[in-house]
Amino acid sequence: MKKQMNILLIGNKGQLGKEVEFMGTRKGYLINAFDINELDITNPVDVDKVFSACKPEIVINTAAYTAVDKAETESSLAFAVNRDGPKYLAVNCSRFNIPLIHISTDYVFDGLKSRPYTETDTVSPVCIYAKSKAEGEKVILSTLKEHIILRTSWLYGQYQKNFVKTMLQLGQERDTLKVVNDQRGCPTCAADLAEAIWSIVDHLSGQKKEIWGIYHYCGKDIISWFEFAVSIFNIAVQYGYEKPPKVIPISTLKFPTPAKRPPFSALDCSKIENVFGISPKNYLESLEKTIRNILMH
Ligand SMILES: NC(=O)c1ccc[n+]([C@@H]2O[C@H](COP(=O)([O-])OP(=O)(O)OC[C@H]3O[C@@H](n4cnc5c(N)ncnc54)[C@H](OP(=O)(O)O)[C@@H]3O)[C@@H](O)[C@H]2O)c1
Repeated sequence: MKKQMNILLIGNKGQLGKEVEFMGTRKGYLINAFDINELDITNPVDVDKVFSACKPEIVINTAAYTAVDKAETESSLAFAVNRDGPKYLAVNCSRFNIPLIHISTDYVFDGLKSRPYTETDTVSPVCIYAKSKAEGEKVILSTLKEHIILRTSWLYGQYQKNFVKTMLQLGQERDTLKVVNDQRGCPTCAADLAEAIWSIVDHLSGQKKEIWGIYHYCGKDIISWFEFAVSIFNIAVQYGYEKPPKVIPISTLKFPTPAKRPPFSALDCSKIENVFGISPKNYLESLEKTIRNILMH
């Protein structure tokens, strides 16, 4: 496939979608990008129309309902965006005989395992958001053979709302921050994930082998939210962040949230490494680049 290949990107205003669009444009791909204001993926008629008009050769879906706690009271919307939307995309990909790269989450697992989850581990979501994402995976698997479902975790980046930006903001407003220390996972930089997505697109060119399926991609290191917060402020002060707060570790029991979260959700990334040669990145290096971008712009 040539670089001018026609890509349909859904969700380009989100933290991941922005990185994907930016990187793909720089790489020379022709990208037709849509977010909810241009195309609501829960509307099957509009999805059909966009496919017919754009005639994409490959579709990347980074759009999702991602408000984990709010989903507990907005379950219809969460299922519409995270299950029905991907279904309409998969149906159209099947109609045009083209592949779909879709992003899913570590939260499809219950977190009771003590070693990183592999792609063959049983899915057992513990909150509405996670259930809706798991259903989205299921519907793609049953609708479209040419799929890549990329599960990722603890996504952060320079755009939109995420843990890193929330910490940096709260740190300016408070002297102390309490952060949970008994949920562990792998922070993943959105720019690194975007790079992995484009490596897969590059790889699909001329690829004749059966590479379709579920893959895991996340940052290399397994840490707690508390450790993540401490690293954020340690790096931020090197870029002029003044008066960082004291970060205090607490247990999940002390910080109840509407949605239950898996206590351990690290992902094993050996499969993506073996099949596509994509390796997880060191989290401190990626975190430093992101914080530099946030604080220096
Ligand atoms: N964030 C994480 O920590 C995390 C962790 C693991 C996996 N993931 C997965 O990674 C992917 C990217 O997440 P992200 O953090 O980049 O999400 P995000 O910043 O919330 O971006 C999602 C984008 O999709 C848009 N959208 C929502 N409903 C839509 C609809 N009906 N039609 C079209 N677009 C719609 C959103 O618009 P609005 O903002 O206007 O709603 C937003 O621009 C998602 O699949 C997510 O489930 C995220």
